[in-house]
Order: sequence, then structure tokens, then C-alpha cells
Amino acid sequence: MEKHLLNLIKLFKPETSHFLTIELLKIFSFILKRSSDNPILNSSIAGLNLKNPIGLAAGFDKNAEVINAMQRLGFGLIECGTTTIKPQYGNPKPRVFRLSEDLALINRLGFNNKGVENFLKNFHKRKKSSSLIGINIGPNKDSKDFIEDYIKLFDKIYAEADYITINLSSPNTQGLRDIQKIESLNILTRELKAIKENKSVKKNIFLKIDPDSTEQDYDNIINIVYKNNIDGLIISNTSVEKPDSLLNRFSTEKGGLSGAPLRVKSNEVLKNIAIKTKGQIALIGVGGIFTGRDVYQKIKYGASAVQLYTALTFEGAKLVEVIKRDLINHLKDDGFDNIDQAIGSEINI
Ligand code: FNR
Repeated sequence: MEKHLLNLIKLFKPETSHFLTIELLKIFSFILKRSSDNPILNSSIAGLNLKNPIGLAAGFDKNAEVINAMQRLGFGLIECGTTTIKPQYGNPKPRVFRLSEDLALINRLGFNNKGVENFLKNFHKRKKSSSLIGINIGPNKDSKDFIEDYIKLFDKIYAEADYITINLSSPNTQGLRDIQKIESLNILTRELKAIKENKSVKKNIFLKIDPDSTEQDYDNIINIVYKNNIDGLIISNTSVEKPDSLLNRFSTEKGGLSGAPLRVKSNEVLKNIAIKTKGQIALIGVGGIFTGRDVYQKIKYGASAVQLYTALTFEGAKLVEVIKRDLINHLKDDGFDNIDQAIGSEINI
């Protein structure tokens, strides 16, 4: 039944499919079978307990509308957003392209969302959760001062989230990735640190970075992470590079590439940063996850948790359950009693 529904939804253009999926999940979340968790997958990230390390990546639930459904699907962490201060339409349509032959998407949505007030209204309706819930924030396209937007949003949502992600890396808001550069990033993270120091409850702050920067850029980011007490990095957002190997006719569309063709690239960035940071900061691996084996690779490269988005649009609701089962088999085959033992096992950290 679920397979038929997914095939039906995939007949529509990708953005319409997404809209329909969200509407169906809002109404029918209660009929989804609850996914169970094997203790072998219990772990933690930056001091927060995780029932399993499989996360929903930002962008799927931009307005915090389907958190309950995502919990039932079995995600150990759910990242909502990106939310912005004001609602915004985003870029003109069409702005999402399905590259079926490549198991990929290209999107240039540009933070289409209903704004943080609407986000919080929805967020407050969620059921109490054993999944970690993160909030991902970004600036409005027409903002005069991106850093000010981040600070305002950070302060506004601080009390609500289990962790907060500063999205520095969507390719579809002009100038956004420049905040990853040393001067801006230093100013931004210093401000975030100061706000956090004044709060009685300390929330984790993660920076979400791109997969297209230079090694020098990543070194600068790592230094600032240490200097301004950032808890972790989410690696990575979509890529602006479109490999020649892509087959689909939309392969040269402008926007960020996600899915299978992003896997190797995001894994390389993850691995290199893990080698340099030696387990001192939390890493979340994102990009091209379709199977338990893909998750396992990122874990072995040093990720404490992972997130996925594109595969969900190709594989549907059963995906998380299947990935968890597959991952457990890989862990057992290699003699691990717990996922924590496997983190970084391929890079000797
Ligand atoms: C995204 N992604 C994203 N990331 C983010 O931080 N904020 C966002 O609003 C969005 N929006 C968004 C929309 C669409 C349609 C896609 C496909 C992706 C990026 C996403 O969270 C993830 O980093 C990448 O998609 C790579 O993971 P997958 O899709 O290969 O598993």
C-alpha cells in the first residue's frame, strides 16, 4: 500500500510531491507503524543521548509540521527548518529537479518557509519525544545583515530546541556561504557564545557547512569552532558542483546537488575533518545516504550521527527501519557490541 502511494506521489513534480507528502503525513501520522530501536544503536552526540544515530536532514520539514510522523518513522534525531525571521517565498518555480537515474535531486528553493512565528506555533504542537529535535536557522534573502538575523533567531528559538544548527551553507541564498569565511564566522560564533554563556541551560550549537570549500577554509572553520566553543559540525549541505557522470537531463540545473552523487564528496570532507579534530568535536555526516552501509561508512569516518533527506523521497517511509536493520548487521558482522565502538574506527581516532 505504502509502495503504491509512493509511486503515485512520484508521478507529480518534486515540489508538488513534497507538498502532498507533508499534507498526508500531517493527517495520517497516527497510522504509521512505530519503529523500534535496538540498544546496539543507542549512542550520544555532544553529550545528548540518541536512541539511534539516524537523523532527518534539514529542509524536509521546514515549518515543523510533521515532527510526530518523523518520530514514528524511527529517526533518532529530527532537524526542522531552515526557518527564517520573516516568511519568504523563495526562488521562482520550478526550483526542485528529480534526477531519477542518478538517485539525486537538484534544488534551488532559497529558504521558502512560513517564518519563525509560524514555525514555533507548529513546533509547540509536537508530542513529547524520545528523538532529539534540532532547529536549523538561516537569514532572510533580503536581510541587510545576515549575522543579525542569525542572532535574533538563535535567541528566539534557544529555549525550544535540543540543539541549534546554524546553516551557513545553502547555495541558494546569495552571499550565505561567505559567512563560513574566517572574519564573519568569528564575529557570528563569538556572539552566539556570549548569548549561550548567559543562559542557564547550555544548548549544543552545530554549524552546517558545505562540501565545496578548500582545505584552508575547513582549517579556518575548525580553528573558530575550537576558539568559540562550537559543539559540532554537520557535514555537509548540498554541492554546487555537478559531476559529468550525471545522466539526467536536469543535471546542469542551477542549485544544490544532493543524493547518491554527493556521497563520496561529503564523506571525504567528513573524513578529513575527523582526522584533524580527533573526536574533540561532534560530527554529523550527511550526503548520499541510502543504505545501512552508507551510514556505517560515515560512522567509521568519525560521524557520531548521520542525517538524510534525498533517499526518503526515492525510498519512502520504510527506509529508516530498513537502514537500522542493515546497520545492525554490519556492526555485528564486524564484532561491535555498540555503535559507539565503531565511530572513527576506519581513521584511528
Ligand atoms: C535541502 N537541504 C537543506 N539543508 C538545510 O540546512 N536547510 C534547508 O532548508 C535545506 N533544504 C533542502 C531542500 C531540499 C529539497 C533538499 C534536497 C535538501 C540539504 C539537506 O539537509 C542535506 O544536507 C543534503 O540534501 C544532503 O543530504 P542527502 O539529501 O543527500 O541525504
